[in-house]
Amino acid sequence: MRGARGVWIGALALLAGALAGCPDTGGLMAGPRVLRTDPQQVVLSWETAADETSWLEVRRPESEAAERFDPESTAGRHRCRVADLAPATTYAYAVLVDGETRFEGRFRTAPRRGAPARFAFAVLGDSGKASRDQARLGARLASLEPELVLHTGDVLYSNDAKAVFLEPYAALLAQSPLWPTLGNHDLEYEPVFRELFDLPTDGPPGLPPSRNYVIDHGDARFAILDSNQGPRTLRWRIGRWLERKMNEPPLPRWRFVVLHHPPYTWGNHEPTLPVQTLVPLFESLGVQMVFSGHDHNYQRTAPMVGGRVAGPGEPGVVYVVSGAGGGDLDAIPPKAEWPDELRGGDGERFSATFVEVAPEGLTVRQVDADGIVIDRFDVPPNAAQTSAPRGREAAGGAP
Ligand SMILES: [Fe+2]
Repeated sequence: MRGARGVWIGALALLAGALAGCPDTGGLMAGPRVLRTDPQQVVLSWETAADETSWLEVRRPESEAAERFDPESTAGRHRCRVADLAPATTYAYAVLVDGETRFEGRFRTAPRRGAPARFAFAVLGDSGKASRDQARLGARLASLEPELVLHTGDVLYSNDAKAVFLEPYAALLAQSPLWPTLGNHDLEYEPVFRELFDLPTDGPPGLPPSRNYVIDHGDARFAILDSNQGPRTLRWRIGRWLERKMNEPPLPRWRFVVLHHPPYTWGNHEPTLPVQTLVPLFESLGVQMVFSGHDHNYQRTAPMVGGRVAGPGEPGVVYVVSGAGGGDLDAIPPKAEWPDELRGGDGERFSATFVEVAPEGLTVRQVDADGIVIDRFDVPPNAAQTSAPRGREAAGGAP
């Protein structure tokens, strides 16, 4: 965690103008947002008028009584860490202002790191256009209650964070943390992007902090990578860091990578060749799924190895483009023209990916804003998931 209070206050100060005039969210000026969930703690933020006193109340499942937690507050901007919680547990919470309840919601703590877990996460991308469809899809995802959300990038198509991010996802952000990937459009608004999120800073040495980071959730590990880089940086600096992070104990059963530019795509853009330099490492590390955006559509490959469809029983990586989150849609070829690698896709509906994680495998659904399932597939466990990830042979040697 970046964690420094000054950084947080700076973030809120930058957003203050954007948040002014934010529609009433239960009597708050902004939020609440669940910024992160850990096995034993949760961090939330919200905003009130500067002269109001606000605090959080959390009700433990076994208790009728609510416990009060006082935030760090500056000029109506509040950030509260709730500690000593139980893992994988749903808590009711309320935001009070001057003793009056202004918002009631729920959050769920993360499972213990490395422990087998059943949970769901959502993936969406290329959303930041403040469109009606973006908001509808955000509301749909909120109704599905994922424990965390991964954004494949292009969160911001403008610096109006209120319009393109905070408002469309208000219900979602009040219950689940959203972990962003840096898209090419986010680079244009990177100061706003950085101030919107409070991200880990232990990325590859020598590269800007928080552009590459890892999140653990139970026995799943998510590596969020900055694909706005050339092949040498991706392959050697980010790749070596990725290898190290994926090998850190407790070794995860499920290994996911999220980056903006797709290594394989049959949509509006060409496959991103610099990202393809990471493909051998994804395979040797036992990564099961790689999520991208950039193309504004949905695409899903067969399990792949070495640029081809994996053989029966051969571990492979499933590549998903989930970039139909709200920006103008990009078409994909008619199904009759799909190559063998492409096994699912849609370029006509706004949609997001919903993944249910269980010890016996992953169940993946692509869901549109009406809740209609566009595509469904399973990812079974394979040998790569039950052994230590490799990768040294893929990333070793001098560049
Ligand atoms: Fe993009």
